Amino acid sequence: MVLDYENKVILAPMVRIGRLPTRLLALKYGADIVYSEEIIDHRFIHCKRYVNDALGTIDFILDTDSRPLFRTCKHEKEKVVLQLGTSDGKRALQAAKLVENDVAGIDVNMGCPKEYSTKGGMGAALITQPENVKEILTTLVNGLSIPVTCKIRILPEIDKTLELVRIIESTGVAALAVHGRYKHERPRHPVHCDVLKAITETVKIPVIANGGSSDITCYDDIEKFRALTNASSVMLARSAQWNCSVFRKEGPLPLDVVIKDYIKIAIQYDNHYINCKFCILEMMHETQETEAGKQVRSSLSLHEICNAWGMSDYYIKMSHPTTKVTNTQPQVNGQSNKRIKLDDDVISMDIQCKRCDYDLTNQSPKSILLEWARSKGIKEPVYTTSCRESDRRFCSIVKVDGRKYTNTFWERNKRLAEQGCAIVCLRSLGINDGRKENILNHNNS
Ligand code: FNR
Repeated sequence: MVLDYENKVILAPMVRIGRLPTRLLALKYGADIVYSEEIIDHRFIHCKRYVNDALGTIDFILDTDSRPLFRTCKHEKEKVVLQLGTSDGKRALQAAKLVENDVAGIDVNMGCPKEYSTKGGMGAALITQPENVKEILTTLVNGLSIPVTCKIRILPEIDKTLELVRIIESTGVAALAVHGRYKHERPRHPVHCDVLKAITETVKIPVIANGGSSDITCYDDIEKFRALTNASSVMLARSAQWNCSVFRKEGPLPLDVVIKDYIKIAIQYDNHYINCKFCILEMMHETQETEAGKQVRSSLSLHEICNAWGMSDYYIKMSHPTTKVTNTQPQVNGQSNKRIKLDDDVISMDIQCKRCDYDLTNQSPKSILLEWARSKGIKEPVYTTSCRESDRRFCSIVKVDGRKYTNTFWERNKRLAEQGCAIVCLRSLGINDGRKENILNHNNS
């Protein structure tokens, strides 16, 4: 299905904000099309494409990095547009070809005013180089099977702006997004609706009006902006960044509901906690001084972010390699021995293997378990470990005598993760796990 840009409400490209969770959230709330954050072609051409079966995603990853530069999934395939930063048609095409079968369209950023962009001939540098604009867009349109768009800023002279948009239209692009501000203007400056309107009257391709967020907090405001600019479609950045449910025709939702919805998607797709933190703090921009805001600011993992929103149990359940139902056991040794039954044959507890509590060199839970297995003449315990990409934490499962045991606390390294699940196994079997306090009590008694 070829993407149609007519009469649409669109999530704008936003660095750091426009990653998979925000895009899926925008779609959930009613956005028709979602743009990715800008990705520079120089970097993207070095990415490899991986099918991530565990998450159901397609990941584009640099050899030098463990985290994806771009992550997408089936759910957004027909609606996601990848935005490229480029100054060269051939290189842009090489980058676009990598992702052509995984996205619905390609966009070129011709509006970024930041020096790091313009000094490399990218972003807003392009709007004063019509020949280069033509070369980049023609190369992409001719070389790709999916629609191509570009996003520009306006020029100080109206006739030059109209000349530029005519050139852009002549390249065969499917639509044109226009941020109605000059290169030097900031978001606080009023958007030039008259120029946007003049552009819509000059070209026949769909014009996507952008820049109206300061006056947009609900769907009716989107329609007002569309009417004011006579544009086919409207693209939102900041108003979606602050409250993504602005796309809902039924009206926006309270921010805490939106944040929790965001967190659920972030967990599902293992989004990095630093990015989650950034996006959530942007949503909380006026309430960052609340208790939840302070907790999010100081958080060092997605789990801690979830704690701030009362979603710890949800996190434990959803982020574990196996999953299901919960029931509670009494506390043992001051640590919660809450049992979480994740899978039919997996016994699990929410505990942490603290170095200070165990002698990991001479009498570790793992060695105790191994000795026990040998003494019973059963097969040695077998450990399997998963590494969570979002924060490089580890979780292990140990198989002993046909049963599996795991710990829902994600440890900092594989060694502690294995010790953690050995503790779960020992406690479940009623064997002393070697905790120093146990030994002390034992000696005292
Ligand atoms: C942006 N903008 C932007 N534009 C773009 O073409 N590529 C990008 O990667 C980004 N990144 C980005 C990040 C953040 C945090 C913001 C707030 C903005 C600009 C954005 O798409 C839009 O053009 C402007 O924000 C104006 O639209 P609104 O905010 O009035 O809807």
